[in-house]
Amino acid sequence: MTEKYHIVTYGCQMNVHESEKIAGVLRRMGYEETQNKEDADVIVFNTCCIRENAENHAFGNIGALKKLKKQKPSLLIVVGGCMTQEKGKTEVLSKKFPFIDIMFGTLNLEELETLIRQKREQKKRVVKIRETEGEIVETLEPYRTSYPNAWVNITYGCNNFCSYCIVPYVRGRERSRKPENIIAECKKLVAEGYKEITLLGQNVNSYGADGSTGMNFAELLDAVASIEGNFRLRFMTSHPKDFNEEVVKVMQKHRKIMRLVHLPVQSGSNAVLQAMNRRYTREKYLSEIKMLRSYFPEAEVTTDIIVGFPNETEEDYLQTESLVKEVDFASAFTFVYSKRTGTKAATMEGQIPEDVQKDRIMRLVELVNSLTRKKSEKYLGKTVEILCEDYDEKRGLYLGRDEFGRMGYFKSEKNLIGEFVVLKITEANGISLYGEIAENLESDKAGE
Ligand code: 5AD
Ligand code: SF4
Repeated sequence: MTEKYHIVTYGCQMNVHESEKIAGVLRRMGYEETQNKEDADVIVFNTCCIRENAENHAFGNIGALKKLKKQKPSLLIVVGGCMTQEKGKTEVLSKKFPFIDIMFGTLNLEELETLIRQKREQKKRVVKIRETEGEIVETLEPYRTSYPNAWVNITYGCNNFCSYCIVPYVRGRERSRKPENIIAECKKLVAEGYKEITLLGQNVNSYGADGSTGMNFAELLDAVASIEGNFRLRFMTSHPKDFNEEVVKVMQKHRKIMRLVHLPVQSGSNAVLQAMNRRYTREKYLSEIKMLRSYFPEAEVTTDIIVGFPNETEEDYLQTESLVKEVDFASAFTFVYSKRTGTKAATMEGQIPEDVQKDRIMRLVELVNSLTRKKSEKYLGKTVEILCEDYDEKRGLYLGRDEFGRMGYFKSEKNLIGEFVVLKITEANGISLYGEIAENLESDKAGE
């Protein structure tokens, strides 16, 4: 019988895509996927450490496997991702969970196969974490599970050292992939029928900043958008200190590039932005939004916001509220500041009490939700183009997103996954839209 793998992923899109690479390794080794932990022969935890609750979540889930491992000693328990890459974390994990078989980091994902083979030959636990980033490995073919969407890495790591953030410590310095490798991967995806490509990096705007690629991000974006075929192109994450008009001009040149930018602002207060080492001001951020909307008045912006950063006053927090209203974000990921050992902010005086943090996050979430709801109402009665992505068994409805990332649900007799459809919106419910098919762009084209 074929052995089976099960992967548990925590954290960001970068991790989701890395799990696809882990799946690629395991499939090449002959494993098959199972959704069920009980049926698995190898379980991989792809962890995240960006906030304390992401870590606690993983700790809880790894701990819960103790019984299963006892019943099935041949089960391989593997822990990888950002958490194992944290200083001293493998020791903590080893002590807490002696039943872990293998640990590897974000910087040596390509070694997973060797580590599994090594573990099969020895009783002792295998731990291999690279200290520094090496050359980019181009041979890790991902097993993609999100058709018609595909993620493509353009950079790895981060050089920014925002004072609250652990990413530069666990993912190393920024490295850019060669443009020819990125373009070849995108061409292949389009030829295979993928309909949406998202270029991924911690700060896509600094692509090639070390001079290693002969191309900057705007030029890369232009090259990818020039690939023939019917597909949508997105990119994330943009950093406000580097986002610029050259990129917006490329967006204007290609209708394939969605008029949605994910531009994390983190705070609306200049004092907090400075303490966060973000290297832009509230005014610069707002001027970028203005510039973007001077090209595309319909452009939408999504963002990340942290509340309760050390020394954040009520006045600072209100500055964030006022910026949120001014930009009118399509949506926002909102976080309570989480102290990460090893970062500069962890040593700052003036940590904010939990009750104050909680109060601010609740007020902010309410504000963001009210903006999202208002935007939903505007969709009523309108038609929007949706890329059908999935089928929701529970609701018996197909679903997909519009240009601005809004989820639209609809009924269809035919499987429309991977096709562009035009929906007439009949109901707008908080963040989700419901509609009827007004047009199926694929079959209409076929009938031309
Ligand atoms: N605490 C809270 N939020 C954080 N983020 C990064 N580090 C922290 C932290 N220590 C948030 C930022 C970033 C997003 C991916 O996670 O908003 O943009
Ligand atoms: Fe973290 Fe800042 Fe880098 Fe984003 S840009 S990964 S927040 S250090």
